[in-house]
Amino acid sequence: MTAPLKHTDPVVVDVALGDRAYDIVIGRDVLSSLGSRIAALRPGVRAAIVTDRSVAEHWLEKTEAALAQAGIASSRIIVEEGEGSKSYATLEKVSEALISAKIERNDLVIALGGGVVGDLAGFAAAILRRGVDFVQVPTTLLAQVDSSVGGKTGINSPQGKNLVGAFHQPVLVIADTAVLDTLSPRQFRAGYAEVAKYGVLGDAAFFSWLEANHADIFKGGAAREHAIATSCRAKAAIVARDERETGDRALLNLGHTFGHALEAATGFSDRLFHGEGVAIGIVLAAEFSASLGMIASSDAVRIERHLAEAGLPTHLQHIAGFSQEGLADADTLMALMAQDKKVRRGKLTFILLEAIGRAVIAKDVEPAPVRDFLAKKLAGNK
Ligand code: GLY
Repeated sequence: MTAPLKHTDPVVVDVALGDRAYDIVIGRDVLSSLGSRIAALRPGVRAAIVTDRSVAEHWLEKTEAALAQAGIASSRIIVEEGEGSKSYATLEKVSEALISAKIERNDLVIALGGGVVGDLAGFAAAILRRGVDFVQVPTTLLAQVDSSVGGKTGINSPQGKNLVGAFHQPVLVIADTAVLDTLSPRQFRAGYAEVAKYGVLGDAAFFSWLEANHADIFKGGAAREHAIATSCRAKAAIVARDERETGDRALLNLGHTFGHALEAATGFSDRLFHGEGVAIGIVLAAEFSASLGMIASSDAVRIERHLAEAGLPTHLQHIAGFSQEGLADADTLMALMAQDKKVRRGKLTFILLEAIGRAVIAKDVEPAPVRDFLAKKLAGNK
């Protein structure tokens, strides 16, 4: 797979969901076209922008200007940055603010931010007046290639992540790749784990292309757009055939069963970003697949090497404070995995690999071999 050397036109990826189909528009500076694209889709609409403090500082004025240029009146709702905003309390604040802003059934909510804002604002839109339309303007790499696409919205319960939510598809996604220039390198790398995931789970040629081009993606330019567009196309295809995750959509959870347990063990804190947990989880899933004889060990090594080259953590031992809090204990990790949504009657669901580019859903995995595998990983060197 070769990337286009250069292109200035936005790439448009269609999410083919019948009368709820929508475009993902990817490119540098596409944010400036937000107003005209919305005006074309929903003439006469009013909009409320939901964002967080840090994104507001960088991108709110530009977003408002893009809307004003197209004659769209907008109001702004600013929430605190971070996972803590995916809460009942913030949902209530956002919902009440939307009602005060007189966002009516035919109006629009715009989620301007990363995954937290997208999930929160999308869910508020899903329940406001029994559902109003919303537009995703993802401002992190992770949100551009994953959470803004596919309609999963929601908040966390004190009992677990994403336990309260709805499927509510956006009507448009605007992924401006220039917005990623203000991300910290660590945040960008964490998003890159989800990009690599698409290669590992379903596209060996894309994985090889990433091995050759990952440095250019970090620099920006055509390689970055190509990587985001390829990731979005992969996700759009899966969502179009399994919107509600009754089958193939679960493939997108590659690396997440292990990854979520690690995020839980570190308290969903800055010690381990979601994408970093996914990177370690992908490596563990590949190594576990190799231990079952499903893939060659050399493929697991290749996956690990690529993620490490991109600067991501790839081993449990790379997590800050690894030796504390039971992270180094297989039984603790098993207990954390048992709390995950992917567990049914004591059996685990894993996404395993038959090859680089060919993932499979393994339901009813017995915990004992997983525990043994983790115990060996923890006892051995990385
Ligand atoms: N992030 C996984 C999904 O959207 O299904």
